[in-house]
Amino acid sequence: MPHKADSSFFDAKKYWSRRKDLLLGYYLVPYLAKIATQRRPVLIVDAFAGPGKFGDGEAGSPLIICGTVQKANSKPLPVEVTVLCIESVKELHGRLANLLEQFSFAEAHHGTFLDHLPTIERRASSHSIFLYVDPFTVEGLDWEAMDRLFKHVSSGVSVEVLLNLNSASLVRRGLAALKLQVPSVDTRYEDDRPLDATDVEPPSLTRLDAVMGGKWWRDVLKQTPTFAAQVDAIVNGYCDRLRTRFKEVCSHPIKALPNHTIPKYYLILGSRSAHALRLMNDAMVKSSEMLADLAKPTEATLFETRSFDLVPDESRLPGLVLASLSGQKQRGTLIIDVIRVATGDYSSTQIRQTINALIKKGIIQSESGRSKIPDKELVWRVKSSAE
Ligand SMILES: C[S@@+](CC[C@H](N)C(=O)[O-])C[C@H]1O[C@@H](n2cnc3c(N)ncnc32)[C@H](O)[C@@H]1O
Repeated sequence: MPHKADSSFFDAKKYWSRRKDLLLGYYLVPYLAKIATQRRPVLIVDAFAGPGKFGDGEAGSPLIICGTVQKANSKPLPVEVTVLCIESVKELHGRLANLLEQFSFAEAHHGTFLDHLPTIERRASSHSIFLYVDPFTVEGLDWEAMDRLFKHVSSGVSVEVLLNLNSASLVRRGLAALKLQVPSVDTRYEDDRPLDATDVEPPSLTRLDAVMGGKWWRDVLKQTPTFAAQVDAIVNGYCDRLRTRFKEVCSHPIKALPNHTIPKYYLILGSRSAHALRLMNDAMVKSSEMLADLAKPTEATLFETRSFDLVPDESRLPGLVLASLSGQKQRGTLIIDVIRVATGDYSSTQIRQTINALIKKGIIQSESGRSKIPDKELVWRVKSSAE
């Protein structure tokens, strides 16, 4: 049965939350190093912060963010970094405020994300902004309100968003609001306790329009045949909306178990920077490895027994590299282009090694003729792999 999201969520960190945290923590380190070179102060917002720490002592996102900023500042960054954490539940906000007292650069604000969004938007005129949006379900999201911040990207401001979209919850709410049949939870395909707040507030069509930024989702649900395909189509539709503001958008499914086909939620990155896509891709690969580890056979086997969905087929990589190489390209651009067609499947190191191997085989040529080259060096195809 779907259960009501409440503060028992913070008793102990769930296994899959670690994968979500990995994406956040892994990404922030190079993000801070890079953004600091832009000489603009940085504002990191944890918009649905929680108490900061779980009952089992595990760090929540506010601690992950503040710990990363503190570490980055051990050799002082050339710009000021402020962390703004927002929590709407008074008791959780109290715990959060106590915890954040140790970080001079962090503020804990009580209220909703939407209450604070106008202030964040004003800060965009002077700050680079990283926004982490991690609601329980889709409550508290509003496309128009967030888009007022995202619009700043077009005037050259660095705004990045990492957003948790609970697509399965959205589909169930959407189907209910459209008076269509809502599938019950099938534990063969999804977690037996999906976080869902349908019992908190009856879903309304107009509220869901506000979350999704229009009515587009209604036709998607009506025209897509299965629940799994609807969940997929909704996250893709949301990514398309983000693409109206961000050049680079990618999503990563967070599943509770390797055999599930319905993710608990998706983490979506929106950024203007190809470098951000590359970093997030590598974090996604690490997260997928954590999930695949759960399906590792207990006895050693000679060959990989897990499906390609869990352990992507490396033998596809040379073909993907060659298909992405038209004319001359810098090696770094080629790596990004491969990532765009297979996001989260192969790390940038695996792609780089594949390019180097193709240079060694004489299938790709580099400007210097060497196979060990920097990212900025041009490469081009000289013969097909079949020749
Ligand atoms: C999924 S939890 C966040 C977990 C946190 N990111 C972490 O990793 O430790 C969502 C939190 O958002 C809070 N919340 C719910 N609605 C909110 C809103 N509209 N604005 C801000 N916080 C909200 C909830 O009380 C809850 O603590």
